[in-house]
Amino acid sequence: MIQHKLTIMRDKETSIAGFRRLLREIAHLMCYEVTRDLELEMIPIETPLAHIEAPAIKGKKLVFASILRAGNGLLDGMLDLVPAARVAHIGIYRDHETLQPVEYYFKAPSELENRLIIVVDPMLATANSSVAAVTKLKERGANNLRFLCLLAAPEGIKHFTEAHPDVPVFTAAIDSHLNEKGYIVPGLGDAGDRMYGTK
Ligand code: PRP
Ligand code: URA
Repeated sequence: MIQHKLTIMRDKETSIAGFRRLLREIAHLMCYEVTRDLELEMIPIETPLAHIEAPAIKGKKLVFASILRAGNGLLDGMLDLVPAARVAHIGIYRDHETLQPVEYYFKAPSELENRLIIVVDPMLATANSSVAAVTKLKERGANNLRFLCLLAAPEGIKHFTEAHPDVPVFTAAIDSHLNEKGYIVPGLGDAGDRMYGTK
């Protein structure tokens, strides 16, 4: 299902509304994968018929950390499934010439050291942005992180896993390579532009 939806997203004829909706739907499906091994604890509840102990996710509320702008497309879908999650916003864009990350905003919930943090951004290209985002979160105390994206380039996976070997990467696809401008090939173009109709 993820692959089918991703194929439609890659198609340059897909509308902005369609692109945004598909990213949200894929986030639902990937949220299942990235949370499937979370620890559960038994909590007491009353059903209309009986008192039982039933499973619930253990520990403090999850944090979803969105790398702006395109991370918000995945974030929306993740929040559909985990509405009580806390949210960190990390403003980073990459300079078009140097491909280096430029940080312009950071706001995160308290007690990052006691929470699982799932960083979301659809695109892992050079990994300069995601490496910087995870570094920033670690500087603020985060020590239990996962990275969730839609598309990754082999170069980006190598860079990311060398910089942050403790952070597992979840991706829907690994594409062929980066072109000379740092875009993922075949990819889907600029995720932020396709989500928001900018150019
Ligand atoms: C895109 C994407 C990632 C980054 C990936 O954001 O959403 O954050 O590029 O590239 P990298 O792995 O080479 O760093 P962009 O820089 O276009 O920011 P924007 O959505 O705010 O325009
Ligand atoms: N950012 C994008 O949005 N797309 C790419 O292919 C690479 C970086």
